[in-house]
Amino acid sequence: MEKKETYELLLKQIEALIEGEATNEMGGLANVSSALHYAFDRFFWTGFYLQRAENSLLLGPFQGTVACFNIPIGKGVCGSAFAERRTLIVPDVEKFPGHISCSFESRSEIVVPFYDVNGEPVGVLDIDSRELNAFDETDAHYLEKIMKVLTEKIYQR
Ligand code: SME
Repeated sequence: MEKKETYELLLKQIEALIEGEATNEMGGLANVSSALHYAFDRFFWTGFYLQRAENSLLLGPFQGTVACFNIPIGKGVCGSAFAERRTLIVPDVEKFPGHISCSFESRSEIVVPFYDVNGEPVGVLDIDSRELNAFDETDAHYLEKIMKVLTEKIYQR
């Protein structure tokens, strides 16, 4: 199946998954990390970091191998995407200054920040691949869309 078709199906699946689960933040994030991870063969790590302290992001629900607990805001790919409030596509993690390596297997990644309904940043979605250059604008487009659907349900506060 084409990547776009897989994402279109995923969007519908995720909408259905979180319908009626507005109060279950952790359950919603956990199910979305699973739906994303298993929709594609090519994701090595799929999960969330959430702002739970002023200066750092803490590990949230994920699928994949064990990961760093804590990422300072402004550092690494996750901390930079969160601080800059924009999606970052990193084709080769070794070329990203200050990349935080949780696993030597991770070669490329995409990080998508997300916000509550007031536009306040909540955290980031982080997806890693064992392949170089695994992510492009199509991934960015659909992952941003998925996070919008999710956050409109879960972060209404
Ligand atoms: N590589 C990330 C850290 C998180 S993990 O890869 C799961 C970063 O530089 O922010």
